[in-house]
Amino acid sequence: MACIPPAASVPRRLEGKVALITGGASGIGECTARVFVQNGAKVLIADVQDDLGHSLCQEFGSPEIISYVRCDVTSDSDVKNAVDTAVSRYGKLDIMFNNAGVSGSPGANILGSDNEEFKKVFDVNVYGPFLGAKHAARVMIPAKKGCILFTSSAVSVCCGESSHAYAASKHAVVGLAKNLCVELGQYGIRVNSISPFTVVTPMMKIFWG
Ligand SMILES: NC(=O)c1ccc[n+]([C@@H]2O[C@H](COP(=O)([O-])OP(=O)(O)OC[C@H]3O[C@@H](n4cnc5c(N)ncnc54)[C@H](O)[C@@H]3O)[C@@H](O)[C@H]2O)c1
Repeated sequence: MACIPPAASVPRRLEGKVALITGGASGIGECTARVFVQNGAKVLIADVQDDLGHSLCQEFGSPEIISYVRCDVTSDSDVKNAVDTAVSRYGKLDIMFNNAGVSGSPGANILGSDNEEFKKVFDVNVYGPFLGAKHAARVMIPAKKGCILFTSSAVSVCCGESSHAYAASKHAVVGLAKNLCVELGQYGIRVNSISPFTVVTPMMKIFWG
């Protein structure tokens, strides 16, 4: 994605920070990884697209700055391992970006909606971010600081074009983020959810054909 401003114009607002980005091998996550590195952060990409993840890291040529770990966000042990890898490789975890997501099939037809696909979308889009927040909190609460981010979607506000599973899952992400704010604020941990409108990423290209 063409998303990087000239290096000289970047103020390096994340100097010294360590970020873990799920779904960081493609689309919004990939772009975020690039911008975070340009801003001085060390980044661990967690994804299931190993080739894309590795080739993105190789572009920067330094595992000291950006590296990849395979992580299926629906697996508790994978997410635990990703968080522990960030801490062991880079010394801490400041930013947990729960961004990985799937769209489900196009069409908002309730009678045609597949039950198993509904569960799969919730597994990746809601259970995954829940695990990400849980394992991030495990290391952020003792540190008494941190930032947990989620990628929800504009469909959490205005519905109609996406699958029912996707719209419901992105509403759930906003609810999870709000509830976590209340609990984790006392430890100095900020929790925010971002709701992008349409961004031309591989997910969107596949969804709209
Ligand atoms: N593109 C848009 O218009 C748009 C709009 C609103 C919200 N979003 C959200 O933004 C996030 C990123 O989507 P994108 O558009 O960049 O799509 P994308 O397909 O380019 O990126 C999604 C990434 O998530 C990864 N992923 C999927 N399932 C995973 C799993 N089980 N474990 C680990 N990684 C997994 C994929 O491999 C991929 O790299 C998603 O949560 C999506 O719902 C996208």
